Amino acid sequence: MCGIVGVLSNHEASPILVEALKRLEYRGYDSAGIATVNAGVLDRRRAVGKLVNLSDLLVHEPLPGKAGIGHTRWATHGAPSVTNAHPHQAGPVAVVHNGIIENFRELREELASHGIQFVTETDTETVALLAQHYMQNGTRPQEAAFKALDRLRGAFALAFLFSGHDDLIVAARRGSPLAIGHGDGEMYVGSDAIALAPLTNQISYLEEGDRAVVTRHSLEIWDADGTPVTRVKKTIEVDGARIDKAGHKHFMAKEIAEQPGVIARALGHYLSEDGQITLPGPGIDFTAVDRLTMVACGTAYYACLTAKYWFEQIARMPVEVDVASEFRYREPPVPTRTAALFVSQSGETADTLAALRYCTGKADQILSVINAPESSIARESDAVLPIHAGVEVGVASTKAFTCQLTVLFILALKAAQDRGEITTNRRADLVACLRGLPNIISTALGGNAEMQQTALRLSEARDVLFLGRGLMYPIALEGALKLKEISYIHAEAYAAGELKHGPIALIDKQVPVVVMAPRDALFEKTLSNMQEVMAREGRVILVSDAKGIREFGEGAYATLEMPQIDDLLTPILYAIPAQLLAYHTAVAKGTDVDQPRNLAKSVTVE
Ligand code: M6R
Repeated sequence: MCGIVGVLSNHEASPILVEALKRLEYRGYDSAGIATVNAGVLDRRRAVGKLVNLSDLLVHEPLPGKAGIGHTRWATHGAPSVTNAHPHQAGPVAVVHNGIIENFRELREELASHGIQFVTETDTETVALLAQHYMQNGTRPQEAAFKALDRLRGAFALAFLFSGHDDLIVAARRGSPLAIGHGDGEMYVGSDAIALAPLTNQISYLEEGDRAVVTRHSLEIWDADGTPVTRVKKTIEVDGARIDKAGHKHFMAKEIAEQPGVIARALGHYLSEDGQITLPGPGIDFTAVDRLTMVACGTAYYACLTAKYWFEQIARMPVEVDVASEFRYREPPVPTRTAALFVSQSGETADTLAALRYCTGKADQILSVINAPESSIARESDAVLPIHAGVEVGVASTKAFTCQLTVLFILALKAAQDRGEITTNRRADLVACLRGLPNIISTALGGNAEMQQTALRLSEARDVLFLGRGLMYPIALEGALKLKEISYIHAEAYAAGELKHGPIALIDKQVPVVVMAPRDALFEKTLSNMQEVMAREGRVILVSDAKGIREFGEGAYATLEMPQIDDLLTPILYAIPAQLLAYHTAVAKGTDVDQPRNLAKSVTVE
């Protein structure tokens, strides 16, 4: 899940490449590098760690040239090091790659049998060496690159640059997205349109198996069968402005604070003035399907788990939820009259995309709930439901999660309405509650100082457990994921009723147990589980409303009070303390909140 970029410019390429890579750093930050052709000479600069290290290097060792390629890396093959950093160069060829070359071992053996030496541990170096190998017979760069591409198995977006050719980039896509940007006498290549947004809003997306030969004044594309094709040039609405922290210490803090605004925006897109549900595009007719299969990864998967409760309770609709990496290889049957729904912030998650492709042609409808409308998942769906969260930079997903929940709740309401499972009055009540959500979330955000205090206690723990029942179970899972990914504290979540089936053995006075429990119909059940924890000296941090805290708060290690809201909407509200606890714990521990170790924002490899 690296980011790649290429430019054929009339200006110096280095600053343009670095700027574009900044916008791709969400894909990985293990190393970064660029290569340019200047007066026919191919040269490169690479640095380990974040892009700022490459920028510093370029100050001392500038890289002139108006044609170039760049890369930001999330390591797959080989540790993060300068040697393993892209671009990889073999003689006259430099290559940047996003994806995994699955047959690189056998290709290495073959190249080694020709006496070719390897200097890196990466799969990508094989591609550069193959192209160089083919060029040695006098084959032209474009043909050599194509011959190399013929040999590759796996997933890739690739860009090749050649010495002696400062008006040529060869690009190819299989499995990983690639966009071509059209400028004024300039051309660009990028993993996404966001990277190219400051340069152009004129984008052609390569399709699966496409290969492109790009010059400043031309773009030739061949499809997977080798047939010349054209790909439409679209005008893309992506903001080219630099995204800043707006005075916050971290992007994550900014994105948490933005939630009332972005949820209000999402509601505005899906609810008309008179409270009717308005889905974009072709929408979905829930009378035409009997069941729903929802597939996603990580936080988006927890959004699906939450929505399962909603669809089942409000719309009486059977729902299956699965993590994409399991679903895609299990080859599950997809019965007739099934709608398949894929949830993804980035719209590029490799496993979710593969799961979608598995369902294409089998499910009656392919729906997606996404934040990036130009993403691969969006483009391959029958109907797209954007969440309108705006660009999310922090690796830990926050506002995208609550916006996903908001849109999924509206979708469940629509299903209930289509299937005649909800009264007009109850529907109107729920719509009114939804409209009140942004204000209630603002109130919850007002409890930030208390969260910070409680987080100080969490930051000293080695392990933290989260418990929740019913609609709070997926939020407990989300709370544990948030905490571990940014604070590196081991955290697990359990359905409260499962505690006594094993996890209770973990409880002692060192282990804080965060219990998500609004005073709803299941509160008393959860209360019993809390008491079981406290009887074993476990330290309960109770997150509940005033009533719940009044009834139980006494013996708790800490309490965090949430505003009152309709039981069905509690997951969206209780996501806020889950996020704030994780955030303040990570800040207290001094970790890299926005770019935690080993992670990337968009997971484009499996
Ligand atoms: O872009 P997606 O929503 O498909 O990403 C799915 C997960 O990779 C993502 O939610 C991940 O779990 C986040 N880092 C969680 O905060």
